[in-house]
Amino acid sequence: MCGIVGYIGSRTAYPILIKGLQRLEYRGYDSAGIALVDNGKAFIHKCRGKVRDLEQIVKGKNISGSIGIGHTRWATHGVPNDVNAHPHRSMNGKFVVVHNGIIENYSHIRTLLVEKGYKFESQTDTEVLANLIEDIYMSAQCDAESAIRTALQKVVGAYGLAIICTDEPEKLFGTRKGSPLVLGMGNGEYFLASDATPIVEYTDKMLYINDEELVVATPKGIRLTNIYEEVDKKIDVTTVDMKLDNIDKGSFPHYMLKEIHEQPNTIADTFRGRLLADQHQIFLGGISDVLPRLARARRIIIVACGTSYYAGLVGEYLIEEYARINVEVEYASEFRYRNPVITSEDVIIAISQSGETADTLAAIRMAKQKGALILGICNVVGSSIPRETDAGIYTHAGPEIGVASTKAFTAQTVVLTMMALLLGKKRGEISEELYNSLIEDLATVPATISRILADEEKVREIAERYKGATNALYLGRGVLYPVALEGALKLKEISYIHAEGYPAAEMKHGPIALIDNLMPVFVLATKDKYYEKVVNNIQEVKARQGQVIAVVTSGDTVIRKMADYVIEIPQVDEPFTPLLAVVPLQLFSYYVAVMRGCNVDQPRNLAKSVTVE
Ligand code: M6R
Repeated sequence: MCGIVGYIGSRTAYPILIKGLQRLEYRGYDSAGIALVDNGKAFIHKCRGKVRDLEQIVKGKNISGSIGIGHTRWATHGVPNDVNAHPHRSMNGKFVVVHNGIIENYSHIRTLLVEKGYKFESQTDTEVLANLIEDIYMSAQCDAESAIRTALQKVVGAYGLAIICTDEPEKLFGTRKGSPLVLGMGNGEYFLASDATPIVEYTDKMLYINDEELVVATPKGIRLTNIYEEVDKKIDVTTVDMKLDNIDKGSFPHYMLKEIHEQPNTIADTFRGRLLADQHQIFLGGISDVLPRLARARRIIIVACGTSYYAGLVGEYLIEEYARINVEVEYASEFRYRNPVITSEDVIIAISQSGETADTLAAIRMAKQKGALILGICNVVGSSIPRETDAGIYTHAGPEIGVASTKAFTAQTVVLTMMALLLGKKRGEISEELYNSLIEDLATVPATISRILADEEKVREIAERYKGATNALYLGRGVLYPVALEGALKLKEISYIHAEGYPAAEMKHGPIALIDNLMPVFVLATKDKYYEKVVNNIQEVKARQGQVIAVVTSGDTVIRKMADYVIEIPQVDEPFTPLLAVVPLQLFSYYVAVMRGCNVDQPRNLAKSVTVE
């Protein structure tokens, strides 16, 4: 949700900032801007639209300077337009700020500043903050660092900030609370960004800034303090293992398609060192210290949002089935405000691709205060959630750039599957024989997904047939019900077709009223314990002239005779079907969106990482 980039060093900052913004554009893309300091003067260029629009408007303007900051925005306060785009300059031009997050008490601060004579150009909370810093700086006659520190102590809300002060042009300031910020450490140069993706090209040495820390970077070095005290803190440098081709589209037209196709490899990466199929073992190093407590849990509560929530629902089925532990899955946004009953015998598992989702983060903070053990299943290494949990498992799916989550879902589901089997074994709930055979089958999933991907053309044809639909229904039962929800979410997000996911048996309690001859109904109908019942649901849809696209087990001849289209997926053990069944649904959404001319990787109104409530 908004991307921040900053540079200080000896190179020209502009190309670094622009490239950085392109890499961060998946975080928000309604406006973009940069500020460059040249000879003690700040030059700001910004506009509504994409980074490519920004590149157009800077043509012929001053883009010199070896210190600068940039921003790509997902609007919170104020509509996306040129004026509200970041960076924001304070009224007397002393400070220039880019901001990710929301300053909740901005209105109160703005009123105080207006009383002092401050005038505002934009509707943003960020401009208020720039002026607050300047007001303190000028009235207290202190240095920029002290002014920033004092201002932040007055602020309520969330922020990731990159700040420059024109009186101290050899410094780049960065600070955060609730919004991620990382500093790349080069040789006499520093790179500030919302995540590591714009930095890895220059250095793999990162300093992850913690909440309420303030970093001051100059070409000579950095200083890290807390916003409440000026005492120097230890610099903990992390070496990040992220390759450039992880964040490029390669030969694919979109990130989403690339990420769908990466799944055989990303799942293999999630397995690596954990699923030891030949030894019939699962080893989850990230939670091995807390495994006894997890296995004794009275209850597991999974908290997550969006696609991660749906992965959590799959986890609920599997953990209850194999480990016989009571599992509840909660939308983090509801859970955090509900005053739920939590004890120290509960275990909370936060699932998040980005590791930065504000609601999920707040949910685990609340549960931690109540004494629960907090675990995380996250993709982005070093992000906030893993840093605030007691233990956890990284999904290792690699950077997911497409706003619609795909490979993160399968990686999260794989982690939950391994966890369910491991807990089942530890608690003596599944036999050695079943455990061994499930492990062997799970290990075949990457190769099986490759086979499904080889049938992509079939899905493309179905997309061609239904690209004009205005509504769609997705039905599934048991472990495939969350996949129905995920399929519907994917279609809505990127093609803007209204879609609903339902447990198949619920159809007759309402959604059946929607069915007519224009309505595509995806039915997840693999050979499992619900098969006969789902076949009946297909009959019910057909009796009302609905269009059925059935995802079936290879070789199914019964449904082939009833459905308008069938997509076959190979037979696997029932708990692993979500990993396979979701793939054609991802492809269908992708192709429909492309055929409708939608921006697949940057769908309207969305942003990749939701760091505000
Ligand atoms: O980073 P997280 O997994 O915490 O994100 C949660 C949701 O915002 C995310 O899954 C969202 O629903 C995606 N756009 C789904 O494609």
